[in-house]
Amino acid sequence: MSDVVTALLEAADTTGGYGETVVIRNINLRVEPGEVVALLGLNGAGKTTTVLTLSGVLPCMGGQVLYNGKSTKTPLHRRAREGLSLVTEERCLFRHLSVADNLRTCGGDESVALSLFPALGGRLKVKAGLLSGGEQQMLALGRALCRQPSLLIVDELSLGLAAPIASQLLRTVRSAADAGMGVLLVEQHVDEALRISDRSYFMARGQIAFEGDSEEMSEFVKDPANFYA
Ligand SMILES: Nc1ncnc2c1ncn2[C@@H]1O[C@H](COP(=O)(O)OP(=O)(O)OP(=O)(O)O)[C@@H](O)[C@H]1O
Ligand SMILES: [Mg+2]
Repeated sequence: MSDVVTALLEAADTTGGYGETVVIRNINLRVEPGEVVALLGLNGAGKTTTVLTLSGVLPCMGGQVLYNGKSTKTPLHRRAREGLSLVTEERCLFRHLSVADNLRTCGGDESVALSLFPALGGRLKVKAGLLSGGEQQMLALGRALCRQPSLLIVDELSLGLAAPIASQLLRTVRSAADAGMGVLLVEQHVDEALRISDRSYFMARGQIAFEGDSEEMSEFVKDPANFYA
């Protein structure tokens, strides 16, 4: 029997961008069940473009994107039905709907969000747009996890949030991976990201410049010369 694990998500020489403009080139990465994989890099390196290309929001302009070992070109809403949840810094909420209604429309078991983030239980009647940034991101992550996805892709979960809330959100992501979900995590808090991730990739100018386990990446990001190489 082979012990090769089929990746939940694989980028194989993936190229992508906006319209005619190529922004990311020949991206190779994989995410397996149960692992948190961090995608790091300076502002403008192409992390969000990679996330949008891998989740089907942007077209794959070259190479392939594979889900569960199969090449796919389906749009995001189809991939969502196949087990993908995407959380972006825009927070993916219905701002004019209450917390309760946001949970009701999560497409899964809303009690999952309330057990992960009990603080939301006291805010059920509040419109999502009036929540604090931390509460909004709890709601966004809670909604994503209610669907019990096999793959979670997260872009800047903790942007602008206080450190304790950022840590709580990232710990929740780690626990979900420990239960078997695969996670691709774009995160500005590099130390936190490396603390909870198994492996990571560092992007520069639209390409993967370095990959390694969290220990190797910690060494890599310590040297400023690597950032601007
Ligand atoms: N809608 C767009 N149309 C054209 N170019 C874009 C668009 N969005 C982003 N870009 C360009 O793509 C490049 C990569 O941007 P991207 O947002 O992927 O980087 P990032 O690594 O996510 O940066 P940040 O850390 O600031 O979020 C940048 O040069 C940016 O100007
Ligand atoms: Mg970005």
